[in-house]
Amino acid sequence: MLLLLLLLFLSSPLPILSLNQEGLYLQRVKHTLSDPDAALASWNDRDDTPCNWAGITCDAPTATVTSIDLSNTNIAGPFPSLLCHLQNLTSISLYNDSINSTLPLDISTCRNLQHLDLAQNLLTGTLPHTLADLPDLKYLDLTGNNFSGEIPASFGRFPKLEVISLVYNLLDGTIPAFLGNVTSLKMLNLSYNPFFPGRIPPELGNLTNLEILWLTECNLVGPIPDSLGNLKKLTDLDLALNNLEGPIPSSLTELTSVVQIELYNNTLTGELPRGFSNLTKLRLLDASMNQLSGTIPDELTRLPLESLNLYENLFEGTLPGSIAESPVLYELRLFSNRLTGSLPQNLGSNSPLKWLDLSTNQFTGDIPASLCEKGELEELLMLYNSFTGSIPESLSECRSLTRVRLSNNNLSGEVPVGFWGLPHIHLLELSGNSLSGNIAKTIASAANLSMLLISKNKFEGNIVEEIGFLSNLEQFSASENKLSGSLPDSIVNLLQLGILDLHSNQLSGELPPGIQSWKKLNELNLANNQISGKIPDQIGSLSVLNYLDLSGNRLSGSVPVSLQNLKLNQLNLSNNDLSGDLPPMFVKEMYRSSFLGNLGLCGDLAGLCDSTSEDKNRGYVWLLRCIFILAALVFVGGVAWFYFKYRDFNKARAFDKSKWTLMSFHKLGFSEYEILDLLDEDNVIGSGASGKVYKVVLGNGEAVAVKKLWGGVKKDIQTGDIEKGQVHDDGFQAEVETLGKIRHKNIVKLWCCCTTRDCKLLVYEYMPNGSLGDLLHSSKGGLLDWPTRYKIIVDAAEGLSYLHHDCVPPIVHRDVKANNILLDGDFGARVADFGVAKAVDSTGKGLKSMSVIAGSRGYIAPEYAYTLRVTEKSDTYSFGVVILELVTGKLPVDPEFGEKDLVKWVCTTLDQKGVDHVLDPRLDTCFKEETCMVLNIGLLCTSPLPINRPTMRRVVKMLLEIGGDNLSKTVKKDGKLTPCYYDDA
Ligand SMILES: *[C@@H]1O[C@H](CO)[C@@H](O)[C@H](O)[C@H]1NC(C)=O
Ligand SMILES: *[C@@H]1O[C@H](CO)[C@@H](O)[C@H](O)[C@H]1NC(C)=O
Repeated sequence: MLLLLLLLFLSSPLPILSLNQEGLYLQRVKHTLSDPDAALASWNDRDDTPCNWAGITCDAPTATVTSIDLSNTNIAGPFPSLLCHLQNLTSISLYNDSINSTLPLDISTCRNLQHLDLAQNLLTGTLPHTLADLPDLKYLDLTGNNFSGEIPASFGRFPKLEVISLVYNLLDGTIPAFLGNVTSLKMLNLSYNPFFPGRIPPELGNLTNLEILWLTECNLVGPIPDSLGNLKKLTDLDLALNNLEGPIPSSLTELTSVVQIELYNNTLTGELPRGFSNLTKLRLLDASMNQLSGTIPDELTRLPLESLNLYENLFEGTLPGSIAESPVLYELRLFSNRLTGSLPQNLGSNSPLKWLDLSTNQFTGDIPASLCEKGELEELLMLYNSFTGSIPESLSECRSLTRVRLSNNNLSGEVPVGFWGLPHIHLLELSGNSLSGNIAKTIASAANLSMLLISKNKFEGNIVEEIGFLSNLEQFSASENKLSGSLPDSIVNLLQLGILDLHSNQLSGELPPGIQSWKKLNELNLANNQISGKIPDQIGSLSVLNYLDLSGNRLSGSVPVSLQNLKLNQLNLSNNDLSGDLPPMFVKEMYRSSFLGNLGLCGDLAGLCDSTSEDKNRGYVWLLRCIFILAALVFVGGVAWFYFKYRDFNKARAFDKSKWTLMSFHKLGFSEYEILDLLDEDNVIGSGASGKVYKVVLGNGEAVAVKKLWGGVKKDIQTGDIEKGQVHDDGFQAEVETLGKIRHKNIVKLWCCCTTRDCKLLVYEYMPNGSLGDLLHSSKGGLLDWPTRYKIIVDAAEGLSYLHHDCVPPIVHRDVKANNILLDGDFGARVADFGVAKAVDSTGKGLKSMSVIAGSRGYIAPEYAYTLRVTEKSDTYSFGVVILELVTGKLPVDPEFGEKDLVKWVCTTLDQKGVDHVLDPRLDTCFKEETCMVLNIGLLCTSPLPINRPTMRRVVKMLLEIGGDNLSKTVKKDGKLTPCYYDDA
């Protein structure tokens, strides 16, 4: 009846407009949507039909709309159910728009719908159970929304569904067995949902048409069901990042179509099943980060495997020789196992190896000369083994190499001349071997080299003048060698240099002129050489220098007064020939050890002068004491916010206002010009990884923080980051795009940003109490009592939890640290600095591997260093370090801990001395129970295996339970601590 009326209505002539009825419906749809980019501008109501409108496809003879594609148009608003009035509509795609609110139940009135793509929108609420009523639906993609609740029971009744993707939502419940009834399914993607712990339903084995089964990070527990072996058409099986246990069932070797198997990061045990030779199409096998044991099956290496990742397991024995025969193997990662013996000497002669990581095993013998025979090798990682012999000459032809890490082996002999000058290499790490010979002049052609790490070898001769050509060099560490001669003058051309560590060599001569060009130098260690002459005054202009050790040389003259400009964590000028008066700032007891052993150096420090003229023995004792005292005392504060007072005033003023463009995210009570006028060097309050921060007080009395990004410069030296040579983005785009979209009480608000071609400004809300790191580790750290610290932890956890679980797509911060947690007037905490944050790419497997290592020393999760794999759990780890920092009051890395970082220090100290030696003595003991419980959460967060770390959502929950009156089971009430996993060496 209704239909009849509708048909009547359709056929009745319309007096005013000639637009047909479908067009009129679409006009109404247009009005329900917000269209900021005018994507619907072509939807013109003076046309006869909508067939030529953007995104509309019609059936030509009848001029009825069959498909609507408005993907990537930014349209916003609720799902327009009115579309269902278009009777012949078979396909709707609103992919990557801002469709919000809930998906209405009446979507089931789109009777002819076959294809529905609403991925990457802002939909919330439960999944409408009526979707299963669509008789022809074949394709349903709801990836990257905020759907919550359980998967409705009706989803077991889709009559024709072939593809369903619910990846990256907030679904809970467990993966239901009834999905096994939808036998038409070819693709089942449920990854990255916070499901409750549950098993893989064996019923999924009934989905015999299934080609792709993607259940990454679904909180799966228990065994992998045998029935999965029935999926004869399966090409891609991905069960990674779960808690699956038990053996890998041998039935998986019956998956005759399978191309890719991902099982990494579970707790699978036992051996790899025999019968892999059946899987003739298998190209990628990743079973890393499990507890698999036994040997690597020979038959596996006879497959046309391209990628074999079995690292962080318990494999023993030798590498099957046949692995060298594979014609297509390009990725082989076996690090952190217990493999022994030597490598097949023809490894790489048949396979186009690109990535080879055999680190942390017990391999012996020579490095095979054939590794790069196909000319594709990019990463050669073999650190921590017992390889012997020399670096093969053939590798000096391997122009594809980008990362070479051969440290801590027993390599000897000279490094082939050409190997020094590989054109694409950015990390060359040879430390801890017995390599000898000179640094060759060919190094001049290593134009991309950013880290040259060759400490603890037997290198000799001069540091060649050619080193000055390495304009990207950020770290040069060559300590504990036999290098001699003077530092080449060209070394001051290394403008990117952050760390220069040449201690314990035989260098002589004077420091080269022009060291003020080392604007990014963070650490300068030339201790224990024979360097003479004066300490140049310009040293005081190295504004980010915070580690300076020139001890044990023959430096003479006075201590430059300009040193007082620096914020040094470490200052050691002891055992030189310095004389004259100490600059007033250093006439303090805490600096005594910095100046010992200098004949004729006088200040009012008792004992300084007379300690110097003593015999060598005494000096030695002093040196020892001095190191001891230093380690205990001299660390003052972290990375300073209150930096740099002496900048070039004029430069800052020289902005050309006319070329600024403004992009704002909130209603602004100020103009960009007002800000530009107020940017001057007296207002600098800090300097971070990517730029300087100014405090600007506006006309209306309100303060804002303005971050001015370094023009075209990107590398973080100040925080001691490792290896960021691959960062091609200065963080601006990332930060703006991420922050601009976010509104949360625990995330720093970005008011606006202004851009010109060579300068960029970000305007944030001003946080009067600065960063947590600065406050905690300054003399004011005692102001932070336990209730305040607890509040800060909870706030920061909520901010991160929001990024991980409530943003679409989720955001991994990637540089969580105390200095990136800012405090407002009431010590409310907000997470800041998304310079390296990157939205997790949910279309591809964005989590798998990112080419950039981000993060700061002491906070980087252990899996980072090897895998380059970045997940939310890496943030959890860094956050755990922040917790430990707040509980112990200690820095994340401190010479006091020796080789250890804070995490390991806490673990060993707990173990050996008990909890009282771990807690910050400034904290009131009446909160000890709570403090211990929070410490416990910190330990959980810093578990070495990501899988054992809680999600941030759970961290928040656990923290809140501590604050609440009733402590529940999630936190152990007796304050007993989780056992530590580190059996520290
Ligand atoms: C949905 O988006 C529209 C347009 O941007 C907005 O006006 C509305 O408030 C949003 N609704 C919800 C529930 O967020
Ligand atoms: C749908 O298409 C069929 C033919 O493809 C046509 O006969 C019918 O009129 C169309 N329905 C509407 C409501 O336009």
